[in-house]
Amino acid sequence: MKKNRIRLFKPALSNEEILEIKKVFSRSWVGFGPKVKYFESMWQNYFKVKYAVGVNSCTAALHTALAVNKFKKGKKVLVPAISFSASAAVVVYCGLTPVFVDINKDDLNMNFEDLKNKFSKDCVAVIPVHFGGHPCKMEKIVPWAKKNKLIVIEDCAETCGGDYKGKKLGTWGDYGCFSFEEKKIMTTGDGGMIVTNNVKRAKNLRSFSFHGWDKDPLLRHKKSLSKSKKIINHWDYDIKELGYKYNMNDLMASIGISQFRKINWLNNSRTQLIKIYLHQLKKCKNLKFTFPYNLKNASYWMLSIRCKKRDALIKYLRKKGIASSVHLKPLPLLTVYKKYKSKIPNALRIWKELVSLPLFPELKKTEVKYVTDVVKNFDNNFGKY
Ligand SMILES: Cc1ncc(COP(=O)(O)O)c(C=O)c1O
Repeated sequence: MKKNRIRLFKPALSNEEILEIKKVFSRSWVGFGPKVKYFESMWQNYFKVKYAVGVNSCTAALHTALAVNKFKKGKKVLVPAISFSASAAVVVYCGLTPVFVDINKDDLNMNFEDLKNKFSKDCVAVIPVHFGGHPCKMEKIVPWAKKNKLIVIEDCAETCGGDYKGKKLGTWGDYGCFSFEEKKIMTTGDGGMIVTNNVKRAKNLRSFSFHGWDKDPLLRHKKSLSKSKKIINHWDYDIKELGYKYNMNDLMASIGISQFRKINWLNNSRTQLIKIYLHQLKKCKNLKFTFPYNLKNASYWMLSIRCKKRDALIKYLRKKGIASSVHLKPLPLLTVYKKYKSKIPNALRIWKELVSLPLFPELKKTEVKYVTDVVKNFDNNFGKY
């Protein structure tokens, strides 16, 4: 087979993105502007939400969504034991304490029973992460969280446009946070989006992510151009509460607009490739799939398998020119989170078996076939490793 290395992830970028970027260049307006607003309106329509706020990463989205609630310092936030570090970092940014919840045995999402066990009266929010694009059990988490007066912030960094029980992921909780980092379902290089249905929340999200300004910078600018005789101090604003420089800009939005037009294709391509993986690897005796892939209206980002000889498999794949990785080490094992020690037996056992295999929209079927042949060969000779 080919000698080129097969990448793990690759953004699907084409001339369509370049054309959108050119439009922004020709206007010489690359900062916060009408393209961001247009991109946000596309999200509102697609997700059927009232408000969407573009930001410069999902980390910024999660931080903003948590911070605008102004929880008392020292309160607790429930976070899954396996996630990307940002899901927990934003809790610490806000002066709050992460409480790590163990994961399910058959996927990497927070375990509902352990969520209830780890809950205490100091908890103020929960951050369910749809890890790898696999939906959390939102039909259980949301009513339980509401009963216990917890804010629900969905971390949708690894999914975009997927349905769960007929409802889009990201619209189950109080806030949905998305990532457009280069490897994700869709990309703007780096970027993110927050969706919500509450007007007050949306206003606070906008302000917090734009230095804390009390006025929308684009509306202010538009007013300054209006023909009204009334003198408008378009330059005037107040900052009542400190915010951050987290906003999206028109350059990012132009790429996002083009990527979002292809969202169904981005998701369907991954789904088709996952089907091949599922079919080809179903007879492997020493491997299993990390998620019970449910591919109907899905938005999976990751192809993940579990193998007891994980490191040997990764070495073998590397030798055969196939990139792979481990998503992810449990957060309480990272030095900065060790002090938030928690009982997480499933996470500590399962992460040692995790291997992610190549998955991206333009991955060729022949390449998937090559990867699965290599994996099957490893499985057939398992005793040797
Ligand atoms: C689950 C999860 N949450 C949050 C993030 C952070 O996203 P971003 O890089 O856009 O800040 C990531 C990115 O890898 C992620 O996987």
